[in-house]
Order: sequence, then structure tokens, then C-alpha cells
Amino acid sequence: MALFGAPNYVLCVFLVIFCVVKSDKKCSKALNDYETYLGTKTPYRIVANYSTSEIKYDDCKAVKLWAMVRHGTRNPNVKLIERMNTRLVEIRDAILENFPEGNGEINNFDLDLFRGWSPKLEANDEKKLTHEGEDEMVLLAERLQSRFPGILTSVYSDSAFKVMEYAEDLKYYWIDGYGHELTYKQACPALTNMIEFFQTNESLPKSTVYFTHSGTLLKMLAHLELYKEEKHLLADDYDKNSDRNWKVSQIDSFGTNLIFILFDCQGRKKVLTMHQEDIVRLQSCPNSDLCDFDTFINYYNKDLECPFDTMCENEL
Ligand SMILES: *[C@@H]1O[C@H](CO)[C@@H](O)[C@H](O)[C@H]1NC(C)=O
Ligand SMILES: *[C@@H]1O[C@H](CO)[C@@H](O)[C@H](O)[C@H]1NC(C)=O
Repeated sequence: MALFGAPNYVLCVFLVIFCVVKSDKKCSKALNDYETYLGTKTPYRIVANYSTSEIKYDDCKAVKLWAMVRHGTRNPNVKLIERMNTRLVEIRDAILENFPEGNGEINNFDLDLFRGWSPKLEANDEKKLTHEGEDEMVLLAERLQSRFPGILTSVYSDSAFKVMEYAEDLKYYWIDGYGHELTYKQACPALTNMIEFFQTNESLPKSTVYFTHSGTLLKMLAHLELYKEEKHLLADDYDKNSDRNWKVSQIDSFGTNLIFILFDCQGRKKVLTMHQEDIVRLQSCPNSDLCDFDTFINYYNKDLECPFDTMCENEL
């Protein structure tokens, strides 16, 4: 390798990257175990103990955990990335020039891999945690959790998550949902906008899409009477409400969406409603996916007057 005058470290990184990128195909024999010899750049999975059985001792209970953990596998610093992007390309080209096809020292398979290789990192990728690094941290935490269900699960247990979930549901129930009628009645302009768009006989535009925030979606869901509760959600009723409909984790995730599709059914207008890409049936037509548009309008008629400014006591 001195042939190319490459500093060992850069070359090492080259081989690592080269082989990691190509790991699905496996590098030639000499490099098969390369991951075992990468010094402080070794991935944690080489050394990790994968046992997940609970570690316990008679008459003892694990109660605290203190740990010092090195960050997971991450990209090199910008200086090294720049060297990789210049020097490694030179080395690759030198290899390809010096070992023309058929030369026994590097086989054709590996030469192909070199041919297909190009640098993947940019300066602003420096020090970012890689997927490998992410897995290292997540899997480590998971194994610790199974070894010491006590300690870690007291904070991160399902039941603690469920209480936090309920708190979140309450918050949005009262801020954006069914808590106060005025809150969700405000969504009437949006509903009216949809109905007018479907009513017009203009064939274009064919679609209208609004991008908005969580609160708007929730108000609209409540306005349509979706995910309604029989009784208001209250903090005291946590135990009774485990089967509630109003779970914002499920109805108001990032990217949540509500879509209406107008169908023409042999001259009759019908509306399909989808929430998060699942077909939902509204109270206007509880027994069918497609809702006759007139039925739909009649059902929500009382809301269509939409005296928005009066409701909100806007000074005009
Ligand atoms: C891994 O850890 C378990 C205890 O959780 C231990 O019994 C086992 O010997 C360890 N494995 C190795 C290879 O050290
Ligand atoms: C659309 O056309 C239908 C039938 O041709 C008519 O009854 C309806 O009033 C029209 N709607 C509008 C908004 O012009």
C-alpha cells in the first residue's frame, strides 16, 4: 500500500467506508473480518453483549443505574471528510490504473467495487450520528431495559406513557376539541369551503389542498363529530377512559390529514371521507362509505350558516 503513499489512517477509513458501503456483497477474504480491527472506530455491535435476560440477584432489587456511554458511530470531522473526498478518490483511481483487469493481485470483483465507489459525505455531514450509531444507542437502551425492568421502566413504562398520553389528549380535547362548542364550531368556514368547492359546476380546479396545523385539524374532526366521547374527558376519569376515541397519538400525528372526495354516481353527487387515508363514516351517513352529498349538506346544514365573526365576537 506504500505504493500509493497514503497515510494509513486515510486508507483505513477508505477500506472501512468502501466495505461498509458494499457490505451486502462482502469484500474479498482478506477484509472479511475487517470490522473487528478498527480501533476506536469499531462499531459497537462487534463487542456488544446481546443477552437480554434479566440480571438479578437473590434478595436484591435493581433501583438505580449510572452509566457513561460514548456517543454512537458518527461521521468524521470536516477535515477528514475533505481528505476522504480528495485523497480517497486519488487512491481509487490509482488502484484502477495500476491494476488493469486480469492482474491477479486484486480480483475483478473488488475492482468492480472500486469502480462503483464514490465519496458520500459532505462537509456538513461532519460528526452526525449515523444509522449505525442510532441503532447502537437505541438497542443498548432496549437491552438495558430488559435486563433491569425496574429501574428504567419506572420512568418509561407503558403505564407512564399512557398517563402522559392521557394528559396530552386532555390538553387538546379542551384546547382544540369537544371541550367547548365554540372551539370546534370555528371550523365551519373550512367545511363551508369544502361544500362550496363540491357544489360548483366548474370542472376546474379539480383539487384544493390546505396545509395547516394540528389545532385546525382537531377542530375540524370535532366539527364533523369524529372521535367523539359520550362524556367530556376529565383528568379524574383516567381509569374509565382507556378506550376513548379521542387519542391524539392516533388521530393527530405529524402529517395527519382529512380528505374528502366527491364522486359522481350516475349524476348523483356523493362524498367519501378519509382520515389519515382510512375511510371514515360520518354521522351524516353512518351506514355507508359514500354519503349522498345532499344528505351530507342537510346534516351539517345548521353549521353552514357559520356566523364566524359573531361567534368569535370579532369587532367589525
Ligand atoms: C453477557 O452477559 C450475560 C449477563 O447478562 C452473561 O451471563 C454472559 O456471560 C455475557 N456474555 C459474554 C460473552 O460475556
Ligand atoms: C349545477 O348544475 C346543476 C344542474 O345542472 C344545477 O341544479 C345547480 O344549481 C348548479 N349549481 C351551481 C352552483 O350553479
